[in-house]
Amino acid sequence: MPSSTQSTTPNTDLRLFEAVHLGSLRLQNRIVMAPLTRSRALEGDVPSELAIEYYTQRATAGLIIAEATQISPQGKGYILTPGIYNDTQVLAWKRITDAVHAKGGHIYLQLWHVGRISHPSIQPDGALPVAPSAIKPEGKSFTADGFVPMVTPRALETSEMPGLVEQYRTAALNAKAAGFDGVEVHAANGYLLDQFLRDKTNQRTDEYGGSIENRARLLLEVMATVVDVWGGDRVGVRISPLSKFGDIDDSNPEPLFTYVVESLNAFNLAYLHVIEGDTGGTRDVAGGFDLQILRRLFNGAYMANNGYDKALAGSALDTGHADLICFGRPFIANPDLVERLRTDAPLNEADPATMYGGDAGGYIDYPFLGAKK
Ligand code: PHB
Repeated sequence: MPSSTQSTTPNTDLRLFEAVHLGSLRLQNRIVMAPLTRSRALEGDVPSELAIEYYTQRATAGLIIAEATQISPQGKGYILTPGIYNDTQVLAWKRITDAVHAKGGHIYLQLWHVGRISHPSIQPDGALPVAPSAIKPEGKSFTADGFVPMVTPRALETSEMPGLVEQYRTAALNAKAAGFDGVEVHAANGYLLDQFLRDKTNQRTDEYGGSIENRARLLLEVMATVVDVWGGDRVGVRISPLSKFGDIDDSNPEPLFTYVVESLNAFNLAYLHVIEGDTGGTRDVAGGFDLQILRRLFNGAYMANNGYDKALAGSALDTGHADLICFGRPFIANPDLVERLRTDAPLNEADPATMYGGDAGGYIDYPFLGAKK
């Protein structure tokens, strides 16, 4: 077919726009809004009123995964991120989930503990951040005083591990009370669970370090606990096997993540969310392995993330590479991203100056198609 006829008719029958079942939920389409830190929470780590409008504007996504949300004060790594560890936060989130549901949308919450990616000025009582091992990350923390170098964290005692898992239980219960449709466990991007998985950051000699089985133990305990609260079909997990985001690495990621995914199958999860390549960067990491190995091993839906546009998303669905496609940055600037993709409309560009922190500007004022300037 000549390319001119292809380009004049937007392709609206792509699988991207098909309704799909995710566990017991029926999603309007296969387009997922990625969890995006926007740093607009209020005092007490309470999501702001503006977040109601922000998320409902984006409710035409098949699924929204709300921003990374700390499961406890200890799990917090940056100023202005929301929490899900007390009743005030639950009530604020409930207003958001109710509003999204009223628009016909679905919304999961991402459960987050940052581990060593924090700073005493953000931790309760100025404590050191906790980690599998006392190894300082390269990089800076976003604090009330701006960006400051990270510190050497405190290695968690073995006796603290059950308490850590309980933080996830509390958060999972709270997320349920807040009316979410499910939860995603954040095991990616160099945060706590990823720090345990990888041998650059986990040099423990107890049953949570050393062998692959030991390094995966905390994640699997957390998954068992969260699934106990929610049931597997309302739980997803996010991994980033090849990413070095957060100064993380592993000497041999293929057997590590093969074991992780094989073990996750026991929970009959709704989905596996994979950041393909380096977070927010290249999809082709030198020395990486073929992540489709994980897709083939996994017994639930495979959600692909990182640098997707409509064409790449369409071919990923057509070839069976993925079941759901997650879009991050495009959702910041395009509340109606689904409609824009469907009609091949141009996309608004996100303004980096208002991505993190600030007010309504750059948060809830990106124009919908057809809006007056
Ligand atoms: C961030 O707040 O910058 C952030 C949070 C979660 C991620 C990645 C980045 O997975």
